[in-house]
Amino acid sequence: MTVVVVGNPKPNSRTRAAAELVARRLTGQEPSAVIEVVELGAGLLGWGDPKVAEAKATVLSAGSLVVASPTFKATYTGLLKLFLDQFGQGELGGIPTFPLMLGAAYNHALAPELTLRPVLVEIGASCPAPGLYLLDSDYETSADLDAWLKVARKFVPAVAR
Ligand SMILES: Cc1cc2nc3c(=O)[nH]c(=O)nc-3n(C[C@H](O)[C@H](O)[C@H](O)COP(=O)(O)O)c2cc1C
Repeated sequence: MTVVVVGNPKPNSRTRAAAELVARRLTGQEPSAVIEVVELGAGLLGWGDPKVAEAKATVLSAGSLVVASPTFKATYTGLLKLFLDQFGQGELGGIPTFPLMLGAAYNHALAPELTLRPVLVEIGASCPAPGLYLLDSDYETSADLDAWLKVARKFVPAVAR
């Protein structure tokens, strides 16, 4: 069961569509849940909010995760960081996790690997494949996605294939 986390202040974005596409192509199944972090609202600014706790429980129950963000100023969004900060060190307990970022150009193509991946690993994700960066203009037909899938599929739990 793959859970998608989308850290875009704009809901129903291309980032969300790309993350769902990646989950589908990675596992052959629809994601079991999509968390739009923006819907958690002001509860992200403190600790112990019930909606945030529910979203965390969904993440912690996942067999694998796709964690997605648009590129904002060369890194992932502050919104996504607010959600990831809600997890303790190591809390994900090794859930196979695939970082994904969309951007307008290739200038920041290393951002998923150099900015998002370290945070995910700190909270206990196992990130077996390189972080994936797709252009917002061609994520649906990207040759980069095809090439990445060849590597990443090796690491998806067999049950999800
Ligand atoms: C505040 C802001 C900062 C941005 N910074 C970058 C950037 O540094 N590098 C980049 O490639 N794209 C940048 N973009 C473009 C977005 O990453 C791109 O449009 C996004 O991937 C589109 O995703 P969406 O349609 O899901 O919102 C920025 C966009 C905004 C709104």
